[in-house]
Amino acid sequence: MPDALHAAPERAARRRRAATPDDRHIFFRHWLRNPLGIGAALPSGTKVARGMARELSLSRPGAVLELGGGTGSVTRGLIAAGCPIERLVVIEREPDLAAYLARRFTGLRVICGDACDTGALLAGAGIDTLATVVSSLPIKWFPRPAQRAILDACFSRLGSGGAFVQLTNALASPIPAEEFGLAGEEVLRIWAHFLPVQIWRYRREPAAANGRC
Ligand SMILES: C[S@@+](CC[C@H](N)C(=O)[O-])C[C@H]1O[C@@H](n2cnc3c(N)ncnc32)[C@H](O)[C@@H]1O
Repeated sequence: MPDALHAAPERAARRRRAATPDDRHIFFRHWLRNPLGIGAALPSGTKVARGMARELSLSRPGAVLELGGGTGSVTRGLIAAGCPIERLVVIEREPDLAAYLARRFTGLRVICGDACDTGALLAGAGIDTLATVVSSLPIKWFPRPAQRAILDACFSRLGSGGAFVQLTNALASPIPAEEFGLAGEEVLRIWAHFLPVQIWRYRREPAAANGRC
């Protein structure tokens, strides 16, 4: 087969992949420096990115917030699923990764900062309504007050029925949902390299949403 015919399907397959070899290299370097802070040795794959994107509610008003953008695997999945790039806002703590995301996705709003300050960061960006939050933060390692600060900042902008979607590799909920007045369910489990990866979806229990919790 002529080279050009070989190249076209291969280029298309590469475009569909969530992470490029460059992404994997940059991600792995960061992980070596700070394994617990990054939370995974490699960026998410295409199936995970698609699974996260399936939880988007684009008919709801407001921005789509991604927490922990990394090298953009999930970001790419959200855009591929139809999320307009101008609706997306990504918070990423590592300055090099935040700069990489901004270079890689023209028009994407990237906030370089700590997700524990989500309330202040969103207020600073003038964002008061969120359609969906998609997080791949290593949240199960965060102290309770930090988890609570992130969830409170998000749910106060999600409104009733809005979802906080969390990627994890814990075999149980990575946050104490009940304690935070949330209803959580595992919506997808994928096996990657013999290890389970789960997607959890949380919504605020009506009593908590009404301030009666
Ligand atoms: C497991 S990686 C996921 C990256 C990407 N979303 C993916 O699925 O490939 C977690 C990301 O969260 C970022 N992160 C960890 N703690 C954070 C924090 N407190 N605030 C903002 N970002 C944080 C890390 O730098 C890393 O990029």
